[in-house]
Amino acid sequence: MKVLVIGSGGREHCLAKEIAESSLVDKVYCAPGNAGTSLCAENVDIGASDIDRLFRFAVDKKIDLTVPGPEVPLVNGIVDKFQEANLKIFGPTKKAAMLEASKVFAKEVMRKYRVPTADFKVFDDHRSAKEYIKTKFDPLVIKADGLAAGKGVIVCQSQEQANAAVDEIMVQKKFGSAGFRIVVEDYLQGEEASILVFTDGRTIVPLVSSQDHKQIFDGDKGPNTGGMGAYAPAPVVEKRIFTKIINKVFLPLIEGLKQDGIIYKGILYAGIMIEKGEPYVLEFNVRFGDPETQAVLPKLKSDLVEVMLKTINGDLKNCRLEWDERFCLCVVLASGGYPGSYAKGKQIYGLDKLTDSADIFVFHAGTQKTRDQQGNLNFFTNGGRVLNVVALGETVLEAQRKVYSAIEKISFENMYYRRDIGYKAVKCKK
Ligand code: AMP
Ligand code: GLY
Repeated sequence: MKVLVIGSGGREHCLAKEIAESSLVDKVYCAPGNAGTSLCAENVDIGASDIDRLFRFAVDKKIDLTVPGPEVPLVNGIVDKFQEANLKIFGPTKKAAMLEASKVFAKEVMRKYRVPTADFKVFDDHRSAKEYIKTKFDPLVIKADGLAAGKGVIVCQSQEQANAAVDEIMVQKKFGSAGFRIVVEDYLQGEEASILVFTDGRTIVPLVSSQDHKQIFDGDKGPNTGGMGAYAPAPVVEKRIFTKIINKVFLPLIEGLKQDGIIYKGILYAGIMIEKGEPYVLEFNVRFGDPETQAVLPKLKSDLVEVMLKTINGDLKNCRLEWDERFCLCVVLASGGYPGSYAKGKQIYGLDKLTDSADIFVFHAGTQKTRDQQGNLNFFTNGGRVLNVVALGETVLEAQRKVYSAIEKISFENMYYRRDIGYKAVKCKK
């Protein structure tokens, strides 16, 4: 089989590697990819959102399976376009991708099908939003309806902050049309976890739980990022809670969507807040998480491509996934200054010291490579999140030790990373 992976992050390097290892696969392409994907796939110079060119490439190269990583092509209907031409593609249709594209849609579906989530109200004008805010207790959460590159959610500690957030989104139009409507949502307090499942619209096949670390600084301080690290499984998702999430979140949601004429196929990702032992949905994503994927997929022993094909073919009924029992932990190495402004083009040293290990992996994100006159490969930074260093360990502490000692071998100017990835799992184990 020939497989095309779409995207250029750590998630896509991890997907491309897993896919390349499948016994069903002869060749992997990655569009546009990064320096890491070029080691296990052939990079193709087409942007992840350029659906027309991706489509033409898939037709020309007779691609047997396409796997989009990020949400934008899904939300813009890449699956519908490929399906119309009978090209196999893994992911939800445009209608189903509304679960991520519109927070209003997601919240209304949850309300309709009684999926536990924070109480909320939707507004399309700022004055009535502010009237409502006057009637609520602090803190409150204001969410722009549409895609805002992960920045459209503002947790507000006071009514003044909430009003300012409403103005930013609806009056100053910081996120453009993504902010024509907002969700004003009650604040939930607890511990967050990510649960991803494969679904063919009927059957749910869960992946192991994981936990992201969104803030830039240790102890979950500072501004949110795309994710500074992750580990799997997340001990906070005890078996009892995991079962509740499947039964109270995923099954009613998939069933409800079906009643509304939407057969959801692909990965469905729920960001969950666990409050007093009860799960509440914070958000849905219609794709693999980044960096969760880099902590989850190295634990998967089953053939990823086989599961993806079963998902597309509506054949998940008897599918069981096999997992490596060990913990997997991923630490993101970022360019100093990220998530604000940062420099690119810094040479990365030490990657050659980390090859050929069965339990330590490096997934590239913002990297590029050049070959010097002697034929040696040189790697350079090319983004905010640069590398993901990942290790498997018998305990979370062992995985942490392996990752952090591997990181000591890698360097680039102004390299920054969190030193505490996995700290909640460590506390949980005591
Ligand atoms: P979302 O994109 O909806 O997951 O929101 C991004 C982040 O905002 C989440 O990971 C949470 O940390 C926080 N958040 C979102 N909704 C709530 C809520 N209702 N209560 C508390 N925190 C929230
Ligand atoms: N880790 C958060 C996300 O993928 O959206």
